[in-house]
Amino acid sequence: MGRPTFVEVNLNNVMKNVSNLKRIASGAKLMAVVKADGYGHGSIQVASAALDSGADWLGVAIPEEAEALRHAGIGAPILVLGGITPGMEETVLKHGLRQTVFDEEGVRLLENCAAKTGRKARIHIKVDTGMSRIGIREIGELMQLARFIKECRHVELEGLFTHFAAADAKNIAFTLKQKAVFDDMAAQIRKMGFSPMIHAANSAAILRLPQTHYDMVRAGISVYGYYGSDEVEKIIPLYPAMEWKTHVMMVKTLPPGVSVSYGRTFVTKRKTAVATLPVGYGDGYKRVLSSRASVLIKGNRAPVLGRVCMDQLMVDVTGIEGVKTGDEAVLLGRQGMEMIDAEEMAKWADTISYEILLSISPRVPRIYLHDDDISANAAR
Ligand SMILES: Cc1ncc(COP(=O)(O)O)c(C=O)c1O
Repeated sequence: MGRPTFVEVNLNNVMKNVSNLKRIASGAKLMAVVKADGYGHGSIQVASAALDSGADWLGVAIPEEAEALRHAGIGAPILVLGGITPGMEETVLKHGLRQTVFDEEGVRLLENCAAKTGRKARIHIKVDTGMSRIGIREIGELMQLARFIKECRHVELEGLFTHFAAADAKNIAFTLKQKAVFDDMAAQIRKMGFSPMIHAANSAAILRLPQTHYDMVRAGISVYGYYGSDEVEKIIPLYPAMEWKTHVMMVKTLPPGVSVSYGRTFVTKRKTAVATLPVGYGDGYKRVLSSRASVLIKGNRAPVLGRVCMDQLMVDVTGIEGVKTGDEAVLLGRQGMEMIDAEEMAKWADTISYEILLSISPRVPRIYLHDDDISANAAR
């Protein structure tokens, strides 16, 4: 056995989440967004589990991410959600990817490459209804691009989509405004004789706004078991797919007045039992969690003492009976009656669950649990 710090990804939970999401998606197709290595969970494993449980499409940020899925034998439709720059078009066409576009340059790259290779490029136009990221803002510009696309013999307009800026906020007024703008854009495109698939909803909109489901929904964070924010009503159960664990490396008892870790920011006030864990910011356990986070040991919360180091951190196990080398420590996940999820860790680190899940470094091995392992564990 190697290093005792690892991530467990429960693919059964991914499958339950996807089928629950599909059930409320108003009959729309479901895209599982697996960019950034499946939000840190492993894109190939998550994509396969998602496709097995009802996902129809996959979403990635860049063509290379889709290429890895194709190399793993995944043939489902994949949309590249980010923009295209010269050099990407060959990968897009070679692997039959769908590409996001928002200007003539992007379309031209694909048209020229497709003409050369005798392939057809399938594109989705991104419209900016309030995110101010990539996308067309003006209806006139959209019409101009659509006219250009009509002249491209090797390009098919397959989709039209937008992205919500605040679907997870308390007030949904801005999202409804975005929807109204998007509806006008979609109507215009249809008037011009196109009938692309229309999509807009991210996880929060899937859960809260059925009127935004259109032909396809794009589920990211919810696939991994999170609602995205406290404002999103938990209308279906979602199960966090990731647990992050390690083992106690050493336990020692310090007298009062002894400093712990770099910078000596923590000094014991009493006799203190300290457990050292072999995990640190080099693994993605953020340094900002110093003296803020807790971990679970023997079903109790053990607070982080002083600064998180690159490869190790110390926690207070005073009052937790019998802690010894080799005991399991849960950084993210459940132990006994206690649970620390990415939402809670995100609050300690002043960020969002997305960033927590994505920041666990590749140095931490991922272990995949599916049906058989899970039932074997339960039987033990
Ligand atoms: C264009 C687009 N669609 C869908 C998603 C999925 O969003 P969420 O993870 O909030 O479901 C993302 C994620 O950032 C995205 O960029």
